[in-house]
Amino acid sequence: MSTPRASELPWQTRFADSMMRTFSPPLAMLVRGEGCYVWDDTGTKYLDFLAGIAVNSLGHAHPEVVAAVTKQIGTISHVSNYFATPPQIELAERLKRLTGAGDAGRVYFCNSGAEANEAAFKLARLNVKGGHRSRIISLHDSFHGRTMGALALSGKPHMREAFEPVPGGVEHIDSTIKALEATIDNTVAALFLEPVKGEAGVIDLPDGYLKRARELCTEHGVLLVIDEIQTGIARTGAWFAYHHAQILPDAVTIAKGMGGGVPIGALVTFGWASDLFQRGQHGSTFAGNPLVTATANAVLGVIERDNLAANAARRGQQLREIILGFHSTLIEEVRGRGLLLGVGLAEPVALKLAAAALAHGLIVNAANETSIRIAPPLIVGDAELADFQERFGHALASL
Ligand SMILES: Cc1ncc(COP(=O)(O)O)c(C=O)c1O
Repeated sequence: MSTPRASELPWQTRFADSMMRTFSPPLAMLVRGEGCYVWDDTGTKYLDFLAGIAVNSLGHAHPEVVAAVTKQIGTISHVSNYFATPPQIELAERLKRLTGAGDAGRVYFCNSGAEANEAAFKLARLNVKGGHRSRIISLHDSFHGRTMGALALSGKPHMREAFEPVPGGVEHIDSTIKALEATIDNTVAALFLEPVKGEAGVIDLPDGYLKRARELCTEHGVLLVIDEIQTGIARTGAWFAYHHAQILPDAVTIAKGMGGGVPIGALVTFGWASDLFQRGQHGSTFAGNPLVTATANAVLGVIERDNLAANAARRGQQLREIILGFHSTLIEEVRGRGLLLGVGLAEPVALKLAAAALAHGLIVNAANETSIRIAPPLIVGDAELADFQERFGHALASL
């Protein structure tokens, strides 16, 4: 009997034999997407209420995104950083406007969320207001990415342990205003915050936290860096979650939903922080190339034109009511804002519930043992919400 060719083996085997063992075995083999739905290789259709973890802002295969990518790749897709391109400048200007950074803002493009935070980490090292400042403050249980600097910033020791030493100087504190007040002084270079801790299970900051953080950072010359990689780009019902608190940071990091599926990230600086980086201090080959910036312009253009921030706020509220409306004893609370919601469970069965949802054709994710994260495309409407209600209801009932 001849040995089967690799391509004749089940995809699960081929995946296990060829991919680095950094991820758990995949849940399905997805081959196609349209709007809020995806299909696997057996033809099964799923309602995608995770959107690639808050990435597919406009769902899958959005015609305007497809048109933008197609047009740009047929025009010019990459140049080096020795040259400018029209979509790159257009996107930088758009981000200055949407973030509120305004005229004094500046944009550094990169390829992922972790890279945006790496850039912000380097920016923090350049904050020497009133002398050298070695301390960088971040929150326990926060997540800022997997590269070494981003790992150092992340408040998840189990992710760091195997890779020590990570870049030094980062201290993690509790997410309380009291801890903030006890820590922020003029020895601190930067404070890194997630407005809603997505990877921790969609955990909100206490009321008034961002406002107090802004006051303390201003008072002590500390760079306030807000990581909006998961919360930004209209997901919480405002362009950026700090807009709800009516504050502006000194720097914001963005990725995920900005490209609608193409890899792009950005660091946007405000005011004095825009003067810190000097020529030659940072860079990346692919970053801000015309292909990804043209795509991001198309994504952001549709979000603005169709006012999807308002849709996220409205649909998020409806989704919250649907979830609480099940009156399930398993559901303790719904956290988060807009279309980034965390369902807090009374028992550690999130993995089981996510698997039951998948079996009923619904993609959601277990952010931890007691939290289900829901982050659908920003385009969801009545039909998708009704479909969610049915599929999630069946999943709950099956436990
Ligand atoms: C808040 C936050 N920061 C940073 C990252 C890292 O982004 P990336 O996976 O694109 O490197 C993530 C990813 O989940 C995130 O949620």
